[in-house]
Amino acid sequence: MGSAFIKYILAKYPDWQIVNLDKLTYAGNLENLAEVENNKNYYFLKGDIAKREDVEKAIGEGVDKIINYAAETHVDRSILEPDAFVKTDILGTYTLLEAVKKYNVAQYIQISTDEVFGSIDSGKFNEESPFQPNSPYSASKAGADLLCRAYFKTFNLPVIITHSCNFLGSNQYPEKLIPLLITNLLEGKNIPIYGDGSQTREWIFTEDHCRAIEKIMERGEPGEVYNIGTGEEKKNLETAKFILQELGFGEDKIEFVKDRPGHDQRYAIDSGKLRKLGWQPEISFDEALRRTIKWYQENKVWWQRLKSGEYLEYYKKQYGK
Ligand SMILES: NC(=O)c1ccc[n+]([C@@H]2O[C@H](COP(=O)([O-])OP(=O)(O)OC[C@H]3O[C@@H](n4cnc5c(N)ncnc54)[C@H](O)[C@@H]3O)[C@@H](O)[C@H]2O)c1
Repeated sequence: MGSAFIKYILAKYPDWQIVNLDKLTYAGNLENLAEVENNKNYYFLKGDIAKREDVEKAIGEGVDKIINYAAETHVDRSILEPDAFVKTDILGTYTLLEAVKKYNVAQYIQISTDEVFGSIDSGKFNEESPFQPNSPYSASKAGADLLCRAYFKTFNLPVIITHSCNFLGSNQYPEKLIPLLITNLLEGKNIPIYGDGSQTREWIFTEDHCRAIEKIMERGEPGEVYNIGTGEEKKNLETAKFILQELGFGEDKIEFVKDRPGHDQRYAIDSGKLRKLGWQPEISFDEALRRTIKWYQENKVWWQRLKSGEYLEYYKKQYGK
């Protein structure tokens, strides 16, 4: 999502200067930013948000805003190997907040997730809902969000927290549900579905999320929390069936696999507070999913290169084949 946001901002505000600090983990990919790499207002720096010297180098002569997209993000990996989640998501956020304090950065936006609230059977989470994270990923993100809150309360730092529903769109690493299903089918493989597939998720298209962050940059208040959601809930099985149909496959491709431990059953988020600032999603789930499928169909080289080496090792650990 960070790369989508950089491209969105450079296209819309060509005079703004952007420094992209990225460790380039397995999930990082400079190809996603190839179209802006020669832009005179774009600077890339390979580095770790959890290392003070890297963060200070990125700040250089000073920055006005920090938007923290960098994180370890994949729940299944947080169950297999939580170490990097605690380091990047918590220590990384702490390191950035310290830099905001030291360099008087005028705005800090924490990109976080609705998963910090845990699972909800009915109704929706709002900005006041208690944190009840159930995975090492969501617990690390919750820890980071609490540090953000504390740095606003204690040091009066200009911190804003956002909790978003799930992303869908192009350039997403093929471990995440939607690109996993699409790319497996394009390779002629079966698609793994956890449990009975009844888990419910709310989805947002990348461009709609970029617009939400843009709105929060313009109109968000320091110390405030904003939920970002579309209201479009889908059961994972419904999403799988939609993709099967779009790609012309039958339901025999579905392989139900052992459920993820601690798997949240449902997320649903009330984004009324952000909508009052003048934002609303523009792309429906069906349209977003069709565009995403098309992108993966047209960019096979991009994802085929990723589905090798480390990815295959992870896949084997996760799905046993
Ligand atoms: N994917 C979703 O559905 C979703 C939903 C809600 C919120 N979020 C949040 O949005 C943000 C972006 O998520 P995403 O799915 O685009 O992530 P991603 O996993 O696709 O990419 C993460 C990026 O962070 C970089 N990174 C990781 N550790 C780093 C470190 N220590 N220092 C610097 N860079 C580092 C990686 O190299 C990569 O470029 C995350 O904070 C995530 O928690 C994601």
